[in-house]
Amino acid sequence: MQLRCFDPDCATTLPLHDAALECPRCHGLLEVEVDAPKQSAAELKELWASRRRSRDARDISGVWRYRELLPAYDAKEVVTLGEGNTPLVRGHRTAEYADVSDLQFKHLGWNPTGCFKDLGMTVGMTEAVHMGAKVVACASTGNTAASLAAYAARAGVTGRVYLPAGQVSLNKLAQALDFGAEIVEVDGSFDDALNTLLAKANDGIYFLNSINPFRVEGQKTTMFELLDQLNWQAPDYLVLPGGNLGNSAAFSKAFEELLRFRLIDRAPKMIVVQAAGANPFAQMWRSGAATLTPVAEPETIATAIRIGNPRSWQKAIRGVKATGGQVLDVTDAEIGEAKAVIGRDGIGCEPASAATLAGLRKLRTSGEIPASASVVAILTGHVLKDTNFIIQSHKKHAEANHAHS
Ligand code: F0G
Repeated sequence: MQLRCFDPDCATTLPLHDAALECPRCHGLLEVEVDAPKQSAAELKELWASRRRSRDARDISGVWRYRELLPAYDAKEVVTLGEGNTPLVRGHRTAEYADVSDLQFKHLGWNPTGCFKDLGMTVGMTEAVHMGAKVVACASTGNTAASLAAYAARAGVTGRVYLPAGQVSLNKLAQALDFGAEIVEVDGSFDDALNTLLAKANDGIYFLNSINPFRVEGQKTTMFELLDQLNWQAPDYLVLPGGNLGNSAAFSKAFEELLRFRLIDRAPKMIVVQAAGANPFAQMWRSGAATLTPVAEPETIATAIRIGNPRSWQKAIRGVKATGGQVLDVTDAEIGEAKAVIGRDGIGCEPASAATLAGLRKLRTSGEIPASASVVAILTGHVLKDTNFIIQSHKKHAEANHAHS
């Protein structure tokens, strides 16, 4: 395996274990070029299924179980908290709300730190340790920070997180503190925090945002596990929220590899949903523009996806186009309402995750998706990730009811 510049016109290659953040020639994004596995598709499926009976920490992890399609490490190097293994939960009220007959949620909020970031962090932190890193860092709207903090603690390295001051849920900040991370608050948005960190890229800090290609490797296994759970039969649609577009990039890569190695013969149409106040990717899609224009001052109640300049849009657009999917945006009011419905299904999630249900409902209302479609929606964060949001919205609701009575 090696690293390759994502831009096909450049295609510069680097050794796999190179800490470069971007292509040294064109400054494009890098990705891991995965070698074809030795086993056939049928043998891989059998091997991965058999690992569910194993006690090996790598087999118990829902990421490392699929290690034939990941960079290789010694077993003792792997930094894992038993991530992955998240269930598919059928939505009943939610299906009715979205007006589809077949809706299941893959709840990535049921990971060790309550968010999908753990799936990428286990690989990113393993690579950091392999490279001898002593300090690892990220900019974050909160969840990456909590995940980095936990995995850094496990690895025995210093975790440092750059957060937009006053814009991060206290629950996520509390996790980062509990796991012993150093907190750097930056005046401005997530994009400012990321720029602050990138300016320090040569200071001996190992960088763990989702432009790190090893993070993407871990997150792509979400789709391996999902397809495994569905007996390798893709649903018609896969819906996920988009912020910095790391997950959309990872799923795009997963579908490409699953098809190339004949593990599936059809990918789901990938639908990315953004918040209307932080929607540069949706704007690009609607306008048909060839490049992304950042939103200067992103604003949404879904603070996890309050991002104006998503870094991985070129990787993300590949999967949207290749699968025949699309990108759309939903308002904060639509997100809030959808979140409450997911709660009433006994599932719960943080606001950013509910953009999926809101987006699905919107596509049903406009008739772009048939009612008979099978849909899997990705829930990215746990209900306890933003408790202030819940308390405040119920308080407002109670006050409004009181005023009317
Ligand atoms: N949902 C949640 C709960 C998130 O925390 C994020 C991103 C997203 C969706 C969007 O995912 O960036 O891969 O498109 N959170 C990052 C963070 C930015 O710092 O925790 P994406």
